[in-house]
Amino acid sequence: MADQFDVVVIGGGPGGYNCAIRLGQLGLKAACVDARGTFGGTCLNVGCIPSKALLHASDLYQMARLDFPRFGITGTLGLDLNAMMAHKNKVVGELTKGVEYLLKKNKCEAIVGEAKIAAPGRVTVTTKDGTRELETKNIVIATGSDVTPLAGVTIDEKQIVSSAGALSFESAPPRLLVVGAGVIGLELGSVWRRLGSDVTVVEFLDRIVPGVDSEVAKQFQRLLEKQGMKFKLAAKVVGVEKNGAALSVAIEPAAGGLREMFEADAMLVAIGRRAFTDGLGLDAIGIKRDSRGRVMTDAHFETNVDGIWAIGDVREGAMLAHKAEDEAVACAELIAGHAGHVNYDAIPSVIYTYPEVATVGKTEEELKSAGVAYKVGKFPFTANARAKSNLTTEGFVKIIADAKTDRVLGVHMIGPDVGNMIGEASLAIEFSASSEDIARTSHPHPTLTEAIRQAAMAVGGWTMQM
Ligand code: FAD
Ligand code: NAI
Repeated sequence: MADQFDVVVIGGGPGGYNCAIRLGQLGLKAACVDARGTFGGTCLNVGCIPSKALLHASDLYQMARLDFPRFGITGTLGLDLNAMMAHKNKVVGELTKGVEYLLKKNKCEAIVGEAKIAAPGRVTVTTKDGTRELETKNIVIATGSDVTPLAGVTIDEKQIVSSAGALSFESAPPRLLVVGAGVIGLELGSVWRRLGSDVTVVEFLDRIVPGVDSEVAKQFQRLLEKQGMKFKLAAKVVGVEKNGAALSVAIEPAAGGLREMFEADAMLVAIGRRAFTDGLGLDAIGIKRDSRGRVMTDAHFETNVDGIWAIGDVREGAMLAHKAEDEAVACAELIAGHAGHVNYDAIPSVIYTYPEVATVGKTEEELKSAGVAYKVGKFPFTANARAKSNLTTEGFVKIIADAKTDRVLGVHMIGPDVGNMIGEASLAIEFSASSEDIARTSHPHPTLTEAIRQAAMAVGGWTMQM
């Protein structure tokens, strides 16, 4: 006889495990199924966490090499890449075990196996011990995403890698070619540049990080170039051949034209990610997907089939762990009969390079095209006392507020530790704060957060420290 559940969640990433935990908290009997063998999904296993472990470690190395002497700290320095990787693996191991513990603590069954939706209300799981049939009132699809392939290029995860392979190079490739100047390309490109690679980034568009405020993006590119990263914009990779230990990469202008050959030792393909639904059996039960293969849902995360829901990377919207988590909580609450809601305008986004880029809300470009009148306040980190003491003065804070109501519409930052500062801006947007609310809120001195307050003052034309 099949095991009975209120909800079976397919996928154990930030969407799936948070949904199952919230369902458990709300008193529903939930199972969370993941094929990977360890819980935490892309984010914990091969995404957010291992990349941040390497970004932090490589940043410390770069700081010790370049900045310590400026603070009067001297000495010889070494790099043990195996130890750095061991640190990354340890963090991943501890956090993925932590997720299993949390599932258990909240009375959710964690099942390792590949799930297929046999019919509405029926999930078949193939485990290493055989097949399990689950009967359930609801199914939540949280199967995430995987790398978008580049036509004509085969990823071997050794020399031609996706982000997963770039998290585990055995040594820094002397010449690394990155395809795609998006978040993954610039974060992992930064890691390997700091650890010794000569990094060139090929980007199809004529700018980096599409979607990020263009003023921020321009300064970001300039600062990355200053650190030694090279860019080939408005260009595309059209082929790659293994040439002994090296790669011969054919690059053409995006609009077509003269082909150039580029020699590299490794290549990272980072041109986006796509919804993952392989083997789920969606077509057989008639679940609708959009032109990009994403599971379509209504505003309450329910698909066109009653009792089947979808959250996280597999549906529309930003592919971010905290977006998946927000949807997970809201979806669980809706299934349990409560109100659940996600405010997409207040979801921040961070690029964890140096300097960091952190944004939330609307960009100037978006407001212009929507015809919304706005005012802008800016404050540079060169004028922030803490940034000066820390020798981290590159970047600025930009606050955009409605011209009539002064309501904060967007906050865009590039600078030191802005990823840890963007939460304040999200809260301001969530609570419909005005720029004057931020300007009149006390911020501790001397901290980097004062730059946010000063930028808010700048919206009203009364910056005090410039
Ligand atoms: P996933 O985390 O992808 O989890 C889906 C899970 O479902 C997987 O474990 C998969 O094994 C499982 N699954 C799929 N099909 C089945 C099946 N049929 N049966 C059983 N299990 C199945 N986001 C951030 O917010 N911050 C970051 O710093 C960040 N860094 C990133 C770095 C990298 C290198 C990458 C690749 C991504 C990063 N992301 C980051 C994005 C983030 O990882 C995703 O947005 C997030 O993991 C999405 O969560 P999810 O639960 O929707 O899907
Ligand atoms: P992305 O969408 O951020 O960037 C892809 C880039 O590749 C774009 O600039 C695009 O114009 C370019 N591109 C597309 N096709 C190309 C081609 N043929 N040749 C050259 N360039 C091409 O995707 P990325 O970096 O792969 O990341 C995937 C997702 O993972 C993102 O949506 C992001 O949200 C998430 N992520 C989030 C992180 C964070 O929050 N810090 C870190 C890493 C990933």
